[in-house]
Amino acid sequence: MQVLSVVGLLQDEVDPMVSVMNVEKAPLESYADIGGLDAQIQEIKEAVELPLTHPELYEDIGIKPPKGVILYGEPSTGKTLLAKAVANSTPATFLNVVGSELIQKYLGDGPKLVRELFRVADDLSPSVVFIDEIDAVGTKSYDAHSGGEREIQRTMLELLNQLDGFDSGGDVKVILATNRIESLDPALLRPGRIDRKIEFPLPDKKTRRRIFQIHTSRMTLADDVNFEEFVMTKDEFSGADIKAICAEAGLLALRERRMKVTHADFKKAKEKVMYKKKEGVPKGSICRWWPVPLAGKYMCILLVIFSF
Ligand SMILES: Nc1ncnc2c1ncn2[C@@H]1O[C@H](COP(=O)(O)OP(=O)(O)OP(=O)(O)O)[C@@H](O)[C@H]1O
Ligand SMILES: [Mg+2]
Repeated sequence: MQVLSVVGLLQDEVDPMVSVMNVEKAPLESYADIGGLDAQIQEIKEAVELPLTHPELYEDIGIKPPKGVILYGEPSTGKTLLAKAVANSTPATFLNVVGSELIQKYLGDGPKLVRELFRVADDLSPSVVFIDEIDAVGTKSYDAHSGGEREIQRTMLELLNQLDGFDSGGDVKVILATNRIESLDPALLRPGRIDRKIEFPLPDKKTRRRIFQIHTSRMTLADDVNFEEFVMTKDEFSGADIKAICAEAGLLALRERRMKVTHADFKKAKEKVMYKKKEGVPKGSICRWWPVPLAGKYMCILLVIFSF
């Protein structure tokens, strides 16, 4: 007689959560990598770091720490960087998901993914749940007509559910980030949910100077390099733009096999980065698309010929 036994169940497909959620024991970014943003660092330390590292302080004083914070403001101003740095400075596991991926990657699974996210956060606690681009999930809901909008609404409701379900004195903290706080559903930011808001402006002069120093700390600079010109300029740039200028300047020196990066490299790099920012695409890449309008033109000519 043949005896068959079940030794294990094969998963029918890859767990969607695996490809949506990014788990880091300790992100590499630290407070030292952040230029300026002193007030923002202070606020996130009080709201996220201290409750995780010294919960007794809150108990002693008799107040409940917040469940989390929302970081909002201009793009590329260090929101993701600060969220990672905070996780780096605590023993917490960092769980990182992007709002738009919760919705788009596995349509219909949004609410399930949110539930799963908080379950994993609880399993791996102490932990920091970081949901970037929260506006993709938490936009003000008007009448949801299409299936996609309903999916967004259901995901948002599950998120509110999860936020209500966990204890703010516990060791799971939530950080949300968005560039469009005005479009968020106020339900998300109601007291008792994510009611601490931290704004990220574009860097001021002092912060620009500091960000240039941070991103050139490992570069070999020529004596003539002086960042003041870029610090004092009226052009608006973000932390990420400064990082891009430094990388581009390094690349220019490398191209000519020079050992030191000069002031002229930074000047050229700044022009290039500002140009790309204004245009959205670099000039060179237009050439690659020249066949498209040309093909369109010849198709029209052919159609005209055939119609005769
Ligand atoms: N204050 C800063 N100090 C040092 N580097 C910065 C700062 N702000 C931004 N950067 C650099 O720019 C990069 C992009 O920043 P980050 O991803 O944190 O921006 P963000 O605010 O999350 O942007 P987005 O809104 O587009 O998600 C960082 O990896 C970092 O290198
Ligand atoms: Mg970000």
